Amino acid sequence: KVLILDFGSQYTQLIARRVRELNIYCEIHPFNKIPNNVEEYKAVVLSGSPFSVRGENALHPDLSKIRGKKPLLAVCYGAQYLAHFSGGEVAPSNTREYGRANLSFVKSDEAFFENINKGSQVWMSHSDTIKNLPTNGVLLASTNDVQNAAYKIEGEDTYAIQFHPEVYHSTDGKQLLENFLVHIAKVEQDWTPQSFVEETVEDLQTKLGNDRVVLGLSGGVDSSVAAMLLHKAIGENLYCIFVNNGLLRKNEFTDVLEQYKGMGLNVKGVDASTRFLDALAGLSDPEEKRKAIGRVFIEVFDDEAHEISDVKWLAQGTIYPDVIESVSATGGPSATIKSHHNVGGLPDFMKLRIVEPLKALFKDEVRRVGASMDMDATLLGRHPFPGPGLAIRILGDITAEKVRILQEVDAVFINGLKEWNLYDKVWQAGAILLPVNSVGVMGDERTYEKCVALRAVESTDGMTADWVNLPYEFLQKTSNDIINKVKGVNRVVYDISSKPPATIEWE
Ligand code: XMP
Repeated sequence: KVLILDFGSQYTQLIARRVRELNIYCEIHPFNKIPNNVEEYKAVVLSGSPFSVRGENALHPDLSKIRGKKPLLAVCYGAQYLAHFSGGEVAPSNTREYGRANLSFVKSDEAFFENINKGSQVWMSHSDTIKNLPTNGVLLASTNDVQNAAYKIEGEDTYAIQFHPEVYHSTDGKQLLENFLVHIAKVEQDWTPQSFVEETVEDLQTKLGNDRVVLGLSGGVDSSVAAMLLHKAIGENLYCIFVNNGLLRKNEFTDVLEQYKGMGLNVKGVDASTRFLDALAGLSDPEEKRKAIGRVFIEVFDDEAHEISDVKWLAQGTIYPDVIESVSATGGPSATIKSHHNVGGLPDFMKLRIVEPLKALFKDEVRRVGASMDMDATLLGRHPFPGPGLAIRILGDITAEKVRILQEVDAVFINGLKEWNLYDKVWQAGAILLPVNSVGVMGDERTYEKCVALRAVESTDGMTADWVNLPYEFLQKTSNDIINKVKGVNRVVYDISSKPPATIEWE
């Protein structure tokens, strides 16, 4: 396995994805929490960072067990760190070094640059530049603006690059990671969905024995795949709870509950809509809404868990991006954008131990794992849906009536996408109810009703996303259907913002 040390770059997760795409298992740990068993990792990658090595709050990793002892790849901040504190020099750059660049020099006899040629496009994102290489540094590549774009340290398996091989815009980035990990560090490429299922089922059996486990199903891909893994491992000892928070899509609660029962899962459906809506009454701040939902969910869940005698564990479908995004919320180096409610530990009163079988996987990997267990393709292909549900798609305060309107609008949109064979081409789609009334005319009457926004994005991991170019005919039909069928809506708009700078959800 490979260790990625995170210095807070927004791209750190992408490094992990690229490594996994090579069928190599890897883990991200904060730079200041290097695992004790660091010997077990075959190679180490240092990520980029929003910090500067020249600043007072530069991040200092303890590389004493790593540097010179195992293959090390330093990216961006990592590359600057190794230069600045080992005999080289980092200085502010004169020109802005962001975006596309091309390698103008490549030391092509190096294994590190095998199959990568002069001219290869790389992605830069830094404001400091490496002026002088560190002691024993050997220049490996340059671009027109960045002289020291890549170097190695003579006598060590230490490599450093100023650009980001992990972003898709670095066209040979994956090749570079393969050169480093497979050819130089000799890491095995043996990580597959099947091997993951086998190992995880075994681990779960050892860890859980005959203990009872409770799991909250959400209807989404993650919790469903987690449930199947646990079901494989411990069978009837898995107790699933599916809570209707009243903020799900139209008919979702009954439809999904049936589907779960068909999969052989031992699942109890709990309708707590009123409890959630009561807790949300009058709240319009997005973070307060999320917190209220998180709190009520825990209360409802706790009540239900107490109904199961002798339960010892709480299983969660937490996936890797949840873990990483929450690291920032708990003091890690990256900035908190939104507080995702599904991580953050348990209140003391629940006294359950946590098991999270998907904690190391990305969404697409979760889908592949599900497929390798023969799970239903429509379930695995479902768009991501946020835990707080329609509450964060109703801007402002929530009422039962607003939920009803949005459910109807969403159903027209999503069913339309399915009918037009567009659903699988879109990563995530939904409707947003805006806190805006506008004037319309229906028949001879003036109307003054709600406006909804439609959002459909393509993405691979939810970290970055772009709006989808849906056919005009489809948008036209959908808009007509919504305004004609959903009482209370007289205007439909389409969201054409990318993430960044917008986000996928509006709250
Ligand atoms: P944003 O809006 O941050 O969304 O671009 C990225 C992905 O995360 C989902 N999302 C959430 N999921 N709890 C969740 O479980 C949340 O509070 C939450 N907020 C956003 C969003 O639907 C998208 O897939």
